[in-house]
Amino acid sequence: MRNYRKKVLFDHEAISSRVEELAAEISARHPEGEILLIGILKGAFMFMADLVRRLSVPCEVDFVKISSYGSGTASSGKLNILLDTSIPVEGRAVILVDDIVDSGLTLNEYRQALEARSPRSIETIALIDKTGRREKHVHLDYCGFRIEEGFVVGYGLDCNEFGRQTGDIYVLEDIGS
Ligand code: PRP
Repeated sequence: MRNYRKKVLFDHEAISSRVEELAAEISARHPEGEILLIGILKGAFMFMADLVRRLSVPCEVDFVKISSYGSGTASSGKLNILLDTSIPVEGRAVILVDDIVDSGLTLNEYRQALEARSPRSIETIALIDKTGRREKHVHLDYCGFRIEEGFVVGYGLDCNEFGRQTGDIYVLEDIGS
């Protein structure tokens, strides 16, 4: 069994000010509002909550649950839609909201599934774009932070389901067994 040490990567103040900027970008790009934000559970719940509270335009909110990870720290490479949208996406300006893009599998494949349902437009936003293990291309219209690698936890992101509730984001450093 490996042991990990937590180190702050982005503190809550840095996250808060970046989320504010992202919300301003979205609001400016959609002055008429009427956007449908779809958060990908569970990781995006905290980012989504902070983001929508800072939007200055009206929006609808929905959530989906897509599983792509096993219980460890690496992607399983599988994508299962466990919970789909309850609001129809047809004709709507959709913004897919995720906490982190890693392999790219989740956003890439779910975006394709949504495109088949004739939305007016689809944009994507992720708080963290982790680029080092990308397998599928993902275009991000809005991005909070870009990192190369590292197992990150906090602010919605988990390690074996724990650690989601912190306001800061940590990186777990492998300190051996
Ligand atoms: C995480 C994260 C993203 C996805 C990114 O979700 O929240 O949705 O993985 O990884 P990918 O780019 O390699 O597809 P996870 O499946 O761990 O579920 P969770 O959000 O419930 O923790």
